[in-house]
Amino acid sequence: MSEVRRVGMLTGGGDAPGLNGVIRAVTTRCAGEYGYEVVGIKRGWKGLLAPEEDSVVKLGVEDVRYILQEGGTILLSSRTNPYKNEGEAKKVVENMERFGIDALVAIGGDDTLGVARRLHEDFGVRVVGCPKTIDNDLSATDTTFGYDTAVSIATEAIDRIRTTAKSHERIIVVEVMGRHAGWITYGAGLASGANVTLIPEVEVDMDAVADLFKKRAERGEKWGIVAVSEGVTLGEEYITQDVERDEFGHVRLGGIAETLAKELKQRTGIDTRHVVLGHLQRGGTPTAYDRILSTRYGLRAAEAVKNGEWGKMVALRGNDVVTVSLEEATSETRTVPEDLQQVLSTFFG
Ligand code: F6P
Repeated sequence: MSEVRRVGMLTGGGDAPGLNGVIRAVTTRCAGEYGYEVVGIKRGWKGLLAPEEDSVVKLGVEDVRYILQEGGTILLSSRTNPYKNEGEAKKVVENMERFGIDALVAIGGDDTLGVARRLHEDFGVRVVGCPKTIDNDLSATDTTFGYDTAVSIATEAIDRIRTTAKSHERIIVVEVMGRHAGWITYGAGLASGANVTLIPEVEVDMDAVADLFKKRAERGEKWGIVAVSEGVTLGEEYITQDVERDEFGHVRLGGIAETLAKELKQRTGIDTRHVVLGHLQRGGTPTAYDRILSTRYGLRAAEAVKNGEWGKMVALRGNDVVTVSLEEATSETRTVPEDLQQVLSTFFG
């Protein structure tokens, strides 16, 4: 196999604060230290499946020097799935050859990294993965960058909502992102002291939730905060924004907070409102923690390219950044475990 001269990098799936930290670190080490040529591929896998005029851009140390504080991704993103249509994936390999890309750093969640794993297995593509998602639901790493920022944003929002809920003696239900894992809601619910925190991992007991707020009202607190994951259901189907699914089969979750607010008003007689934090949780500058974690991920991904650790993903284990197989990394969704569920329920009331 030819030696690696040109390294491509792409960001796929939902954006997360810290993506530019990875891009900056990979480029600085690969181009600045190792002497590779680095190119950015725009719009995730779309940039290699159906390239546009601007899909491939050269990246040098000076291009990335000041992007660490920038939210989002300078390489744009998409939810394009090269394996959606039979036989299309090989176009990715053909376009890598066309652009002279010898190795790839794929930064993404389970969808993006699942494609990276298959390209490596099916075509021997030299790829290194870097875990990214605010959902923090990737099984093989302790934490993904973007998570700390999302929890900080949601916590600050709930702290603000608390003052208006108390002033108007209302229960306000706050809907938090995280798809089918409750990590962001767990973190923000705990950090903000929400009166009730509902996550997809725990079935909702509506009687118990209503009773909790009735008891609060009896002691003069006719108000409160419910933090609820977008993936929580009240027994039936997920509440979704519309019927269409993305190229990886995901529905667009959203609407549980409004449903829950109506249900609580009907059961308790207390006025309610709801707030959907939505994409606020993915926006803006990363926290210091996420700037540091994304930088460490990017540096180790560059090392993995130099070492030829293909088919691997960088991962945080304790305070060490290591590499694990992409197969292990994309095997299952990491959900909030029992012991942390107990931590949450300790403070319900
Ligand atoms: O995976 C990150 C995430 O923000 C989920 O928490 C959320 O359900 C989804 O992306 C939203 O996707 P989109 O930005 O495509 O609407």
